[in-house]
Amino acid sequence: MEFMERRILRDGKALDQNILLVDSFLNHQVDMALMQEVGNAFAHRYRDEGITRVVTIESSGIAPAGMAALALRLPLVVLKKRNSRITSADVYQTSVQSFTKNTQYELTVARRFLPAGERVLFIDDFLAMGEAALGVMRILDMAGCALAGVGIVIEKSFQPGRQRIEEKGHEVFSLARIAQMSAAGITFIPATEM
Ligand code: G4P
Repeated sequence: MEFMERRILRDGKALDQNILLVDSFLNHQVDMALMQEVGNAFAHRYRDEGITRVVTIESSGIAPAGMAALALRLPLVVLKKRNSRITSADVYQTSVQSFTKNTQYELTVARRFLPAGERVLFIDDFLAMGEAALGVMRILDMAGCALAGVGIVIEKSFQPGRQRIEEKGHEVFSLARIAQMSAAGITFIPATEM
């Protein structure tokens, strides 16, 4: 069993069949030793892919993506969630819908932090519907950058995010893939099937 699966079983809690509570180690209290292990795992997977920049979305993506950027010795760019559109030539923006939280935001980044030609690794804490990842792809297209990888800490494989990203021609590398969950327990898709 992989380290992230063990930690989910130890400290995660399925609120229902859709939402996994991980606020004791990932998105409220953050276990930085675990994040270091996360960063090293992503760095190991992507060290030979010619990545030039790591990108994430505020806020819960910052810890895992930051540790990956540190391990890879690369800059980290944090895409912002804005409430409204900005009419400025200095930013790239695209609307993203969050089905889990039933909200919408304007994914925003200053153009100067995504110069054309960068090879970008996108890292996020959760993959559910894939809306955030598709938004990042639109931003990278606007910037003339290439998406070189999608690294996810916890993938909810019973939701269509992975499939939607793969349909766009990109691979997903997840540290834990949840096959299903309920109050009775959590099951994973084993790493050998990844
Ligand atoms: P998608 O991008 O794959 O479509 O995912 P979706 O919009 O449905 O969900 C994105 C937000 O919901 C993210 O938070 C993500 O961390 C959170 N989320 C999704 N599934 C779960 C879950 O099972 N458990 C928990 N705890 N969170 C989940 P966010 O809006 O980006 O907020 P932030 O915490 O990063 O600020």
